Amino acid sequence: MPPESDYIVPNDSPPAPIHRVLKGQKALVTGASKGLGQAIAVGFGQAGADVLVNYYSDEAGARQTARSIEESGGKAVIFRADTAREDEVRSMFQCMIDTFGRLDICVPNSGIQLNARIDEMTLSQWQRVIDVNLTGQFLCAREAVRLFKSQGIDRSISYAAGKLIFMSSVHDLIPWEGHANYAASKGGILLLMKSVAQEVAHLHIRVNAISPGAIRTPMNVEKIISQEVYERVLLKLIPYKRIGEPEDVARATVWLASDESDYVNGTTIYIDGAMTCWPGFIGAG
Ligand code: BGC
Repeated sequence: MPPESDYIVPNDSPPAPIHRVLKGQKALVTGASKGLGQAIAVGFGQAGADVLVNYYSDEAGARQTARSIEESGGKAVIFRADTAREDEVRSMFQCMIDTFGRLDICVPNSGIQLNARIDEMTLSQWQRVIDVNLTGQFLCAREAVRLFKSQGIDRSISYAAGKLIFMSSVHDLIPWEGHANYAASKGGILLLMKSVAQEVAHLHIRVNAISPGAIRTPMNVEKIISQEVYERVLLKLIPYKRIGEPEDVARATVWLASDESDYVNGTTIYIDGAMTCWPGFIGAG
């Protein structure tokens, strides 16, 4: 058997092509100026969708996302909104309808981390993380379901009346010391997703979540540039022995938004290189 180190692969394998499984569909992705949201929005464009690219502070990033979507033949519009604010979320969905006339796919992806140990966590650190990561996703989900309900099913577009894909994390299952606000928000997403799925499945609205592990995004850049931390995370926490790329998440999200996954409903897809398989038990327990 080759030594363990031979399995630590460089992340340079060619990406699988994205097929045009979302042709003619209209998608809204929040937090799409960078990281996972950007990769997902671009993936949707490559798959044939038109996309509203939401951003909060990084307008240049949002413009870059929009350019990439347009390069693959899709239409894109950028829209600034704080997704934790009801009025701004409403305006964003109004822009979606004014621009594209309908909504087929909604990915409330915006998320933040404000880390602090529990005895040092301020109320505002707690509140802002819950506001963006949980309340923000609720606000988008509510508007999306309203639109999906009023549109109904158009089989020339999709077998479902709409697809809602929440952005969660492996920390909807794995406790995370020093990040109680973040883990609580993602744990909340797990049952928000399942409760909404249960409520609207009979309307043929599909509701699922994506739970990424450690992905090479700006949120994780410090961990990745520190070789010591990277290897500690890589070797100990990721059995697959490579960090995830935003495109790993984008490809799965495209599939989850497409009719190829039509019977997938009310579930979470973990994209984590087996991080949720309790690697601490390897050789232990
Ligand atoms: C967090 C990352 C973290 C990963 C695994 C994600 O939800 O955003 O910062 O590396 O979980 O712990």
